[in-house]
Amino acid sequence: MAKVKSVYVCSECGYESAKWNGKCPECGQWNTFEEREQTVSAKSSAFGSSAIRAYSDDSVLPLDKIDGESREIRYLTGLKELDRVLGGGLVKGSLVLIGGEPGIGKSTLLLQICKFLGQDKKILYVSGEESARQIKLRADRLGVDGGDICVLSKNDAEAVCATIIKEAPDIAIIDSIQTMSLSGINSSQGSISQVRECTSLFMRTAKEQDIPIFIVGHVNKDGAIAGPKVMEHIVDAVLYFEGQQNMSYRILRAEKNRFGSTNEIGVFEMGDDGLTEVPDPSEMLLSGRPSNVSGNCVACVMEGSRPILAEVQALVAKSAFSAPRRTSSGFDYNRLYLILAVLEKRVGLFCGALDVYINVVGGIRIDDPASDLPVAMALYSSLTDKVISDRITACGEIGLGGEVRSASFIKQRISEAERLGFEKIIVPLHSLKNVDIKKYGIKVVGVSNIRQAFNEIAK
Ligand code: TYD
Ligand code: MG
Repeated sequence: MAKVKSVYVCSECGYESAKWNGKCPECGQWNTFEEREQTVSAKSSAFGSSAIRAYSDDSVLPLDKIDGESREIRYLTGLKELDRVLGGGLVKGSLVLIGGEPGIGKSTLLLQICKFLGQDKKILYVSGEESARQIKLRADRLGVDGGDICVLSKNDAEAVCATIIKEAPDIAIIDSIQTMSLSGINSSQGSISQVRECTSLFMRTAKEQDIPIFIVGHVNKDGAIAGPKVMEHIVDAVLYFEGQQNMSYRILRAEKNRFGSTNEIGVFEMGDDGLTEVPDPSEMLLSGRPSNVSGNCVACVMEGSRPILAEVQALVAKSAFSAPRRTSSGFDYNRLYLILAVLEKRVGLFCGALDVYINVVGGIRIDDPASDLPVAMALYSSLTDKVISDRITACGEIGLGGEVRSASFIKQRISEAERLGFEKIIVPLHSLKNVDIKKYGIKVVGVSNIRQAFNEIAK
């Protein structure tokens, strides 16, 4: 027999609890619990009951019997950097989330792809943030004119989905999910439950209508509580648009992609007339480098399938405080501690009473483990005041014993360094097993520990 039970549900995040709470343990909001009635069927808890047996297994299909002929259809967006991050274009019927801080350029990016896509496809641009007139003004400035582009200024997610079904565009853009709401949900716009339910609704619409939908999601500075994090498991792909507000470079990174690799990045530059692609990021990252300054080392890192050369700067200075400062921008903070410990234990370089600053120039973040060695070399250079030539680059992961461990894609790294006119590349010795170093026009030096790498600087 069914019985009615009371549950308390947080109106912000949907957290359920058997008793009322003043503060939600999940999202930390105060006074958001509401009482709801929940019907519990007495039968449903009886495991193995006839209800389960009633489901036949006819929906199970052997993998090799499924029709795999119809390949996924992809639309090219006209921006090669975006296409690459998407895994070779936008997949028909997929839901793609573009996340990033407010003002980073998400709306600009999506409006710009309308320029190319609008030539032969119908696009519906839904904005809950800007009026149709404002979008028109921006589109004019970005040179997006003509084409089959329709604009809808609305906040009601159900009405938006109804319009998508009625208009049947080839592509829909929702800017932004935080401004969409469902009337049936009793919480404010942008709250976790609204964001989650609206995303699910758009997901259903995208799949049922086979229309690809881009969703813009703002990330708030304090950890993205009501932001894209709650939507990541629902959508097909999550792309984050990153960069520093006061720098013109923007990096598009895939955090999740059901239709491609998550290692790829796209690089753009924000200018007066919108975003322009940067097909050669190494050249941009290395421009304006100082020469004859200690503490600089060029890192040869892989970002997805693409090698990138970026300048790492280190500054080690006497500290005025009892607890010295360590800051790291663009490089993992915990790895910096690890490298400092290895330098102290294995090479005898003590930084205990010194402030240490690491900066990767250009606002780029390097995650490749092979960026350890250039960071260690920059630290060594700053500490000993020995200048590393601006024609030297390095890569390699550092182990706790001070050894330099092998790095992947070594041939691509060497070729990229050669292309950019470097004279010497310091690489892990183990990675050179199957590499014919004589065929390169750059001196390739294999090292097996960090001492050997440091000795190479002076030569
Ligand atoms: P926007 O796309 O509105 O950001 P988001 O949608 O992520 O909130 O970008 C706004 C920023 O971009 C704003 O600071 C101004 C800058 N911008 C340019 O520098 N040049 C341009 O041509 C455009 C359209 C914007
Ligand atoms: Mg915007």
